[in-house]
Amino acid sequence: MKKIVILVSGRGSNMEAMLAARAAGQLPVEIAAVISNRPDAKGLETAANAGIATRSLDHKAYASREDFDHALAACIDEFSPDLVVLAGFMRILTPDFVRHYEGRLLNIHPSLLPSFPGLHTHQRALDEGVRIHGCTVHFVTAELDHGPVVIQAAVPVLDSDDESTLAARVLRQEHSIYPQAVRWFAEGRLRLEGGKVRLAAELVADCALIAPQLAG
Ligand code: GRF
Repeated sequence: MKKIVILVSGRGSNMEAMLAARAAGQLPVEIAAVISNRPDAKGLETAANAGIATRSLDHKAYASREDFDHALAACIDEFSPDLVVLAGFMRILTPDFVRHYEGRLLNIHPSLLPSFPGLHTHQRALDEGVRIHGCTVHFVTAELDHGPVVIQAAVPVLDSDDESTLAARVLRQEHSIYPQAVRWFAEGRLRLEGGKVRLAAELVADCALIAPQLAG
């Protein structure tokens, strides 16, 4: 069974979605550890309560981004994961860190990339007046919120939306597509090859089938 390490900075609802998928027998992975750069992250407490090993490395205790990323990689590698899952991990990563985990580092971002990288994606989508918004799971590159796309989910933007209603609609989809992407990786059906995402052939049809479920 593939081993994963999950990195969180806060609430940890995407991590919880993975724990739930695993408990339901839908995510064949060993969650080896949950690591945070914030000692007070709620996600750490949730993981510990679920009996998962947790570690916290306070980024403020390190003199430079390089020093922190070096310590973080050492902490992650103690668990020898096949895949590192960024789940609301609010740090810009150094190119060396990203290179070290090339092809085994996933992130989720709350927009349809390449639109709206960075912060405040839902408010920016509202300000731009887009009619379709969503979320993206991608392999990580050294560029912020950028990289080969694994799966995306789209939601409508309603005239009645404010930032919180739109965020909630997108978050429901995050909790569906992120465990799905990790499941594909765990089953050996997803990989990065020459900078491009490769999904086992039959999954292309599965992806198309996800779309009708996304209207809500
Ligand atoms: C999610 O919206 C995720 O897309 C973004 O940060 C948020 C984290 O939420 N990267 P949670 O900690 O998983 O609840």
